[in-house]
Amino acid sequence: MTAFQFPEGFLWGSATSAHQVEGNNIHSDWWAWEQAGRVKEPSGVACDHYRRFNEDFDLAASLGHTLHRFSVEWSRLEPAEGRWDEDAVAHYVEVVRALRQRRIEPLVTLHHFTSPQWFTAQGGWTRPDSVERFARYTQRVVEALGESVRYWVTINEPMVYVRMHYVQGIGPPGVEDFAQARRVIEHLIRAHAAAYRILHAAAGAGAIEPQVSIAHHLPAFRPCRPWWPPDRWMTFVTDRIFNRAFLETLIEGRWSVPGVATQMIPEARATLDFLGVNFYGRQFIRSLPTHRPWPAGSCDLGHHPRQVRERTALGWDVHPDSFLEVLTRWSRLRLPILVTENGTWMEDDARRWDFLLRHVQAVARAMQAGARIIGYCYWSLLDNFEWADGFGPRFGLIDVDYATQQRRVRQTGERYAQLCRTNRVEL
Ligand code: FCB
Repeated sequence: MTAFQFPEGFLWGSATSAHQVEGNNIHSDWWAWEQAGRVKEPSGVACDHYRRFNEDFDLAASLGHTLHRFSVEWSRLEPAEGRWDEDAVAHYVEVVRALRQRRIEPLVTLHHFTSPQWFTAQGGWTRPDSVERFARYTQRVVEALGESVRYWVTINEPMVYVRMHYVQGIGPPGVEDFAQARRVIEHLIRAHAAAYRILHAAAGAGAIEPQVSIAHHLPAFRPCRPWWPPDRWMTFVTDRIFNRAFLETLIEGRWSVPGVATQMIPEARATLDFLGVNFYGRQFIRSLPTHRPWPAGSCDLGHHPRQVRERTALGWDVHPDSFLEVLTRWSRLRLPILVTENGTWMEDDARRWDFLLRHVQAVARAMQAGARIIGYCYWSLLDNFEWADGFGPRFGLIDVDYATQQRRVRQTGERYAQLCRTNRVEL
């Protein structure tokens, strides 16, 4: 057996997002969506992390973490348009301080699927001025946190966000409309570019020189029936749209997907300092005999084909070799990679650990092959509110008893701590 020693300073940690752990996020559009009965259960007090963050960070520190990804909740900071809640600002200053005191590097996400209710009610990301509104919010956040935060993710999984909220309609505002989805994509790109500039401009005014990215969901897409040309074509198109288009726009300033006129968005050019990769597995593409536009009717995207041998408790594909492939592929962009999410829910914790270990081994192998990877965040520190799936799925290194808010570190958390502390993995 050989071992891989990670470079000194490699960042080890885990990720959360505000709405999934904080609790009582009453001004967010997801809260309103839940109250309207659109999900199986509401987020409620979730993990009560808004009040218990110190205790949770004690656990993270005791598990050897040196990095923690979390999101700042826009709807707490700006509960009504133009009204800033200074207590909420002070709260996040305290959160960052609490991490730094424990020698944990903070990685701040500005938008993780939730927006303020007022914003969504007025048309949200479909409006061109959403860009300015997001920029104003970013400005406030960097004024408060910029002195102590180096790593920033502007938008979590922009293409997943658009698919869930504007194509499938399974999150607020519950839209199923391609024209609107395309507008939203453009505004998210422009919003990212604006935030990128604001974060960098702040460095001149006392903030740390930032490292800015998005957290991009980068599955390995595969044809359901590899021998069937329409499936292969759909796989190519899906990869182009979901994986490549958004990223390439942030590199080249040009939005280009098959069948749609190329659009120049010059301000987005060269707005990635690193690449945030979220990886969960392969997704299989089946073309469907219909003339409805992609992907509403012409394509089925899922985890169900026969070639999947191993699944998570949510039925998602488990395939660490594809993680290696994805990391190797995207390392060609010559940006440092930070794994911003990778994790699983398994009924049996031993399988959760097996998943984590094999994916960290894939990171090591990608690095051996030359990929520059600077950190790894397991999803998630705690069991939490998994959007439309409610509290059923349990991704945590730490088990949460929702009735008592008791935390209990899982074996996986302890074993992962060994990796974090020794900075090496057996291969
Ligand atoms: C990702 C999301 C994250 C969490 C995990 C399981 O797509 O970014 O919030 O729900 O999936």
